[in-house]
Amino acid sequence: MDDLNAETVTQAALQQMAATPDPRLRQVMASLVRHLHDFAREVTLTPEEWLTAIRFLTEVGHCCSPVRQEFILLSDVLGLSALVNAQHVADAAPGGTEASLLGPFFRADAPLLEAGAQIARDPGAPELLLHGRVTDTAGQPIAGARIDVWQTSATGLYDLQVADAAMDLRGAFQTDAEGRFHFRTVQPLGYQIPMDGPVGRLARAQGRHGYRPAHIHFLIGAPGYQELVTALYFAEDPHIDSDMVFGVARALVVSPVARDPAAPIQGMASLRYDFALAPAAGHGSQRVGADPASLQPA
Ligand code: BEZ
Ligand code: FE
Repeated sequence: MDDLNAETVTQAALQQMAATPDPRLRQVMASLVRHLHDFAREVTLTPEEWLTAIRFLTEVGHCCSPVRQEFILLSDVLGLSALVNAQHVADAAPGGTEASLLGPFFRADAPLLEAGAQIARDPGAPELLLHGRVTDTAGQPIAGARIDVWQTSATGLYDLQVADAAMDLRGAFQTDAEGRFHFRTVQPLGYQIPMDGPVGRLARAQGRHGYRPAHIHFLIGAPGYQELVTALYFAEDPHIDSDMVFGVARALVVSPVARDPAAPIQGMASLRYDFALAPAAGHGSQRVGADPASLQPA
């Protein structure tokens, strides 16, 4: 038996895992160990720093609850969620609308609402109309597509961040025979990612502002089509070019218009956006995120 050192321990660990029966687990874990060991060597990780990281990850875990997923938040601020998203959606849904992050505030059981409904229980700000169509990549309408939407209030909070966490500022709609949808909301406010936990502490230590530009999330699905997870970002937001979680794409940046004679409801600012779904091609879900409640241990 040879004594291990900071170099040879990598090979020893890889060898011990080499008989992993599941080939994908074998590949992923071998790569993870190689990169993790390289990282520790590159920064000459000290025992104190190693323990700080263990403490940090422990805190991240303790912060998770049915309404908060601090690990997803960590992945988001490291740019990992955006990377996984970018790596897969282009292949999975060619020609479809650009995807964006699901984020930690999606809820699977939002109420199904009538076309034109207001999603804010107490708008408290001028109304904004969102309307458009859902089509396939050839522009043909998709009838009966389900559109989940969720966003912050005009003060920058999701329903999950207020005391009773009652459903608000979210809802689900179905497209009509021509693939059309419309609903009323309020202009969302850009917001800081939750900064009161370990991930926020890290962000502050890095001198980062923590803001996401104002946006509205969409999850759109229809039988036979690849599910679309995306968001529309408001051009006027001061953080449009420095999103804390790297979710903005040029094609998703929008500006409401004060008056649109073609809008299905008049008397308020409106925003039209058409979404295109790619055919399902057996790629499974492309959601980079999940309802926090679904990630609780059994
Ligand atoms: C969001 O869009 O809701 C979000 C995404 C990532 C981190 C925090 C919030
Ligand atoms: Fe969001």
